Amino acid sequence: MDLQQPRTGAATLVEMLAYGVSHGMRVGWFMSHYLAAARLAPRARWRDAPDPKSLPGSRAILRDLAALLRRDWDNIRAGRYKPPFDLAVNPARALRASARFFADLPAVHLRRRAQETQEIFRSGDPEAAYPRYYLQNFHHQTDGYLSRRSAELYDFQVETLFSGGADAMRRQALVPLGAHLRTLERPRLLDIACGTGRFLAFASDSFADVAVAGIDLSLPYLGQARRLLGRWGGACLVAGNAETLPFADSSLDAVSCTYLFHELPRAVRARITAEMARVLKPGGLLVFLDSIQPGDHPPYDGLVERFPRSLHEPYFADYCAQDLPALFSDAGLSVTLTERAFFSKLLAAKKQ
Ligand SMILES: C[S@@+](CC[C@H](N)C(=O)[O-])C[C@H]1O[C@@H](n2cnc3c(N)ncnc32)[C@H](O)[C@@H]1O
Repeated sequence: MDLQQPRTGAATLVEMLAYGVSHGMRVGWFMSHYLAAARLAPRARWRDAPDPKSLPGSRAILRDLAALLRRDWDNIRAGRYKPPFDLAVNPARALRASARFFADLPAVHLRRRAQETQEIFRSGDPEAAYPRYYLQNFHHQTDGYLSRRSAELYDFQVETLFSGGADAMRRQALVPLGAHLRTLERPRLLDIACGTGRFLAFASDSFADVAVAGIDLSLPYLGQARRLLGRWGGACLVAGNAETLPFADSSLDAVSCTYLFHELPRAVRARITAEMARVLKPGGLLVFLDSIQPGDHPPYDGLVERFPRSLHEPYFADYCAQDLPALFSDAGLSVTLTERAFFSKLLAAKKQ
């Protein structure tokens, strides 16, 4: 792999400027969408909502987001991964995405007001073999995970929620992943619940000689991932349930999993963890990224507590209560790294 050479010289200065300008605009763009959405579609106030004084102010959050972006740039400059492939934004595409977001907002708002969360189950195809927990309007999203419209909206909605920091959080998982993959020849990586393929795109771009695969239950999300990953020659994308991975025992060098576990019931988390451990080779690495849990960054505890109430996240509270190192260790995976990155926590764990 040709990375891990610190970037130096005039080219780096140009890249740094491009990164800075692009991310300044990115944060402004997504934060303005967040604020506009909060105004146009305000969330309900809860009687036992946390005291606003216990919540971090927007300045503290912005400072923390700036720290994440500095860390992202430091990793790029140190050659740990490449600059984001989408630094140059296509304005027409950005405006179309914004229009889609605002066109969908009233439906999300009505669902949230009515506490409607089971549309997908009621309208579901009885022949389709999806797990029951999956057939919900997570975050009151339109069509759950089961339409092209939802797949086209998803990345924009997630970036809006994190004011443009979501991809930078995902990229932090590339650091332990790259350090592991660099020690191997033609390694194999599987991304669990790959969604629209953002993490696999960054991994494919940065680690050219890695064979990448992804699995997800959603055909439309896999379609979106296929379109994105085509620019790196494609990935092996499989439609299926991560509770029974269609990969042989001890066949993969690394497994990644980003933003899945907070949307799973506890028993499903345990089954998927056991599957991830089964398919990893001995010495293989799991990189795991998901929401922070209470106590990971006490100033955010009030926000973490509030999150599942205003957005439909039925398993989030239980996720927050779960001891993740113990979950991984029960499956034979020992945690070697735990870090916070803005609203996410990153764990790396080795199969013994
Ligand atoms: C919150 S999204 C995360 C997607 C992506 N990893 C990311 O970083 O944005 C959750 C994803 O998990 C998928 N999913 C949920 N349960 C699954 C399961 N049992 N097997 C495979 N995919 C699943 C959904 O279809 C969706 O794409």
